Amino acid sequence: MSSLREKKAWKALTEHHPSIASKHLRDLFAADPDRAERYTLEAVGLRLDYSKHRIDDDSLNHLFALARESDLEAKRDALLSGAKVNVTEHRAALHTALRAPADAHIEVDGKNVVPEVQATLRQMETFAEAIRSQQWKGFSGKPIRHIVNIGIGGSDLGPVMVCQALRHYSDQRLQLRFVSNVDDTDFAEAVRDLDPAETLFVVASKTFTTQETMTNAHTARDWLLQAAGGKIEAVARHFVALSTNADAVTGFGISTDQMFGFWDWVGGRYSVDSAIGLSIMLAIGPARFREFLAGFHAMDEHFRHAPLERNLPVIMGLLNVWYTNFFGTQTVAVLPYEQYLSRFPAYLQQLTMESNGKRVTAEGVTVDYDTGPIFWGEPGTNGQHSFYQLIHQGTRLIPCDFIAFAESLNPLGKHHDLLIANVIAQAEALAFGKTADEVKAEGTPAELVPHKVFEGNRPSSLLLAEKLTPALLGSLIALYEHSVFTQATIWGIDPFDQWGVELGKQLARTVAAEFDGDEAELKHDSSTNAAIRWYRQHRRP
Ligand code: F6P
Repeated sequence: MSSLREKKAWKALTEHHPSIASKHLRDLFAADPDRAERYTLEAVGLRLDYSKHRIDDDSLNHLFALARESDLEAKRDALLSGAKVNVTEHRAALHTALRAPADAHIEVDGKNVVPEVQATLRQMETFAEAIRSQQWKGFSGKPIRHIVNIGIGGSDLGPVMVCQALRHYSDQRLQLRFVSNVDDTDFAEAVRDLDPAETLFVVASKTFTTQETMTNAHTARDWLLQAAGGKIEAVARHFVALSTNADAVTGFGISTDQMFGFWDWVGGRYSVDSAIGLSIMLAIGPARFREFLAGFHAMDEHFRHAPLERNLPVIMGLLNVWYTNFFGTQTVAVLPYEQYLSRFPAYLQQLTMESNGKRVTAEGVTVDYDTGPIFWGEPGTNGQHSFYQLIHQGTRLIPCDFIAFAESLNPLGKHHDLLIANVIAQAEALAFGKTADEVKAEGTPAELVPHKVFEGNRPSSLLLAEKLTPALLGSLIALYEHSVFTQATIWGIDPFDQWGVELGKQLARTVAAEFDGDEAELKHDSSTNAAIRWYRQHRRP
């Protein structure tokens, strides 16, 4: 039996679970008139109502005890102080230093990293100002009007999501595009209507070796040089690099003056507020980028100081553990009722699933419990007309995170009232449903009654805030980052490595080399060999 299952609080939760599993949220609310008030917390501009979860005081007390028995507080302090918490790569995971105030002192290997972080921010600011003020000119003397970020995974999803989320605050004269996929269509469509003389490529790659990104970056350089009559000096006016690998950047032909660095203690999926956020700073400007960072920092401080019982990311993380391990749920739906957050679920997929999709503990022992749930979602109200049917009446239990704002950034008539009415109503419908008696009382024919019953008892969190601002978005991202850490700590896994992406990358290199090879070289299984042969026969010569 794993050490997790042997924990006192785990055993208490196992014993306690049937008493809660057999109760309906209707009864929990009826028995406790103050439930909503007691299970709502506000911090850092975010209001979390977790009263519509299948919990009572005992469930919460056992979950907090489990967090304490798992040393969550000590492990959180180790994370925030720069200890090498990424044990399989012997690295710190200090994304919190990227948004720490300029006078903070945070050491990695005995060196304060904050001055370097601030120096990079100033370098980014100088560059962003030059582009935004149109002082920076392309090879033909025209200012830059198009920014194309080339990157993948953490070097793409964060910038894409945040540029979309903060479009309201962006300089609309600059057009932002993103190329991530090695599929040629991604590059072709991104640049189809762009003038190379007005285009800046931001090559974002921590390692500067990622196959997709380097393939796209070389294609971009050829595209630019073709327009610039092959003049190699043009590259310096149209390419910058965001990376930790100075040698590979210079090897590509970008001088280190145009490289914005970061450090091995910034994980790819935790890098949106490092130099990887340059496209964001170009879009929203340096001052708003600083507000974005301040929002992260405010949540970091809340995570650091709030007692577990009043700590938003801890509560959200523990609720995920509760459903994953005791109710056997497989997924979490993230449902933002805010069009600007349409890429937020996709961003969270990397943050949560690359972090907690692990089947061995940090010590390498195979777990005998489930770990990271599958995250997915779409903005409301669109999802209501697609997959909500299954959430309401299907056979699976799917905890939902609803996210909404009091203010619209583009007010139009009654739109926002309707949007918010829908999110509130969905949470209510999921929790309380509609009984057979209520359905009958509406005059429903007997044969239709079972189809129209809503069982209810389906849990959700309701996260509300005044308005989507750069700072609020930073806090929201940090909320999920620390929730992921909380879950990983309970499960005893390393949320900062990602060995699971390696095998596919390695095999893809082998297979790509075999397209032009001999039949005798094909040493895979019969299915893989057949697919390679098929492609050899069908691909364009
Ligand atoms: O393949 C996974 C991964 O390593 C991610 O963790 C990372 O965000 C992404 O690839 C991109 O890596 P890089 O920034 O080094 O190009």
